[in-house]
Amino acid sequence: MARTKLIFGNWKMNNTLAQAEVFCKEAESISALAEKKGVEAGVAPTYLSLAYVASHKAGLNVYAEEVHYADHGAFTGNVSVGMVKEAGATGSLVGHSERRAYEKETDFDCNLRIKALLKAGMGAMYCVGETQKEFDQGWTKDIIESQISTGLLGVSEKDLGLVTIAYEPVWSIGTGKNASEAIAEDICGYIRSLIEKKYSEAAANKIRILYGGSVKPINIHGYLAQEDVDGALVGGASLTSDSFKELIENI
Ligand code: PGA
Repeated sequence: MARTKLIFGNWKMNNTLAQAEVFCKEAESISALAEKKGVEAGVAPTYLSLAYVASHKAGLNVYAEEVHYADHGAFTGNVSVGMVKEAGATGSLVGHSERRAYEKETDFDCNLRIKALLKAGMGAMYCVGETQKEFDQGWTKDIIESQISTGLLGVSEKDLGLVTIAYEPVWSIGTGKNASEAIAEDICGYIRSLIEKKYSEAAANKIRILYGGSVKPINIHGYLAQEDVDGALVGGASLTSDSFKELIENI
């Protein structure tokens, strides 16, 4: 089955509202380019520019970078699924390795966030990946298997249609130390096999699995040429409209 490739920008704690406004001036041309190339594009801005980007997004997908799993309540500093939905987001990243590392988010927390998003009919981009130490030990597939099985606990095959997986080896994020195309393909293919085992062949053929970690205009082509890599989750190279367009140009 042909899966439409997806190029998704994760802005992290970058791009002020003023910078987001500059980016959005090009949203229409980015969308037009994506359409011409037959791919989908999206961005995850900070909460402060989420509503602005969502209302000036042209054809782009707009996700939050994170959501809390509770509807509301005493969770200082957090934002709920309903709040990001009201701001115009259609989904959220979940379990980015920086959240796992700095905010101590566990696979179980990710599962609650994914289920809260799905319950609201929102998309969830679930980030998985091993650390350098785990990679060096040869544990990558064991780590991925446990992240996938806990993260997707209780998620039905129907709801899985709203889920995207992003394989992001932690050692390659923001380091310029890319995983090889062969590693990206091997692990994205492995994730697809886990989905087939847990759900069905149809679900495995349908779900999009992205690679992330130091993806740049110069190397995006090689990743997207891989059979099981359905796109890229991009940090640093997604921040300006010029660089974003270059990513799409070079697929
Ligand atoms: P990077 O970040 O492209 O800057 O390595 C990717 C990510 O963390 O999603």
